[in-house]
Amino acid sequence: MRIAVTGAAGGLGGRVVQLLSGRDGVDVVAITRRRLSAGALQPGVEVAVADYADPPALRAALRGVDTLVFVSSDGPDARMLLHHRNVIAAAAAERVGHVAALSSIDADAASPFCYAVVNHLTEALLRATGIPYSIARASLYIEFFQHWLTRARSSGLLQLPAADGRISLVARDDVARALTALATGEPTCRHHDITGPDVAGLAGIAAVAAQAWGRPIAYQGIPPETFHTQTAATGLDPWWGYAFSSLFASVREQRWDRVCDHYTRLTGRLPLASHNVLSTQAGERQDSAGRASSDAQ
Ligand SMILES: NC(=O)c1ccc[n+]([C@@H]2O[C@H](COP(=O)([O-])OP(=O)(O)OC[C@H]3O[C@@H](n4cnc5c(N)ncnc54)[C@H](OP(=O)(O)O)[C@@H]3O)[C@@H](O)[C@H]2O)c1
Repeated sequence: MRIAVTGAAGGLGGRVVQLLSGRDGVDVVAITRRRLSAGALQPGVEVAVADYADPPALRAALRGVDTLVFVSSDGPDARMLLHHRNVIAAAAAERVGHVAALSSIDADAASPFCYAVVNHLTEALLRATGIPYSIARASLYIEFFQHWLTRARSSGLLQLPAADGRISLVARDDVARALTALATGEPTCRHHDITGPDVAGLAGIAAVAAQAWGRPIAYQGIPPETFHTQTAATGLDPWWGYAFSSLFASVREQRWDRVCDHYTRLTGRLPLASHNVLSTQAGERQDSAGRASSDAQ
C-alpha cells in the first residue's frame, strides 16, 4: 500500500511518517513544500515536493497513491481553504482510494473560530468528492497551547480571554497515532473525535503546568480586547491576533469541552494527559542542561 502524507516536514505529519515507515507492505511518500536534506526522514521514505498552492505538483505527488494522510494547512483562512480545495481536487483527480484527513472537534460554520469554519467546509468538500474518507477531529494540541504556558512560566500569570471555558487538550503525538491508525485501516466514512483524557478550565491547566515545571502559575481571565492589544504589542502578524482571538471566543462557547474514547478505540492506547507531556519535556530540558554543564567541565 502506498501512503502519502502532507505537511510531512511538520510536527504532526513528520510523526505520522515516522509511525508509518518500516511497516510491512507500506510505501511512504512524504509530501513537503521544502526540499529536505538527506537523512531528514526515515530510510526508504520517498519525498515529493509540492506546495498546497500548486495543483500540478500535488497531482504529481499523489499519482499512484492508495491512501492520503491529509494534514491541514495553516495561515490566513481563505488561503487555507484554497489549499485544502487543491489537495482534495488533486486526490480526486488521481483517484486516491482513501483520505484520512485532519480536522478539529470544533468544525462548525457557526463557530466564531476561523479554522472551525475552514474545517467544516473542508470536510464538506471531501465528502462531496465521493472519495472514501476517515476524519480525525482533534482537540487543541498541548504543544500548541504551550505557547501561552511557556510565557506564563516566567511571569507566573496565565492571562487569557478564556473566561470559564474548558478544553480537552490532546498530545500531538496521539493525533499522529490516530491518523496512522485511520490510514492503515479501512475508510470509516465518519469522523472520530481525538481528545485528551480529561477536560480542564484554564486554572486547572495552569495548575498542571505549575506542577510539571515546579513553578507557580495562576490563571487570570482577561477581556478579549485586552488580549488583542497585548498580542498586537508582541509584534505578531495581525492575522494571528485575529485567529487566536477567534479561538478563545470558541473556548468561551465551550466548544472544546468534550472527552471521547475514539482514540483508545482506534489505537488500543490511553491518551496522554497534559502533565505527562509537560513533565516529559521538563525532564528532557533538565537532561540536556545537565549534559551541557558536564560537557563544559
Ligand atoms: N489542534 C491544534 O491545536 C492545532 C494547532 C496548530 C495547528 N493545527 C493544525 O495542525 C496542522 C499540523 O500541525 P503541526 O503542529 O504539525 O504544524 P507544523 O509543525 O507547523 O507543520 C505544518 C506543516 O504544513 C506545511 N505547510 C504549510 N503551508 C504549506 C503549503 N502552502 N504547502 C505545503 N505545505 C505547507 C509546513 O511545511 P514547511 O515545513 O515547508 O513550512 C509544515 O511542514 C497545522 O498545519 C494546522 O492546520 C492544529
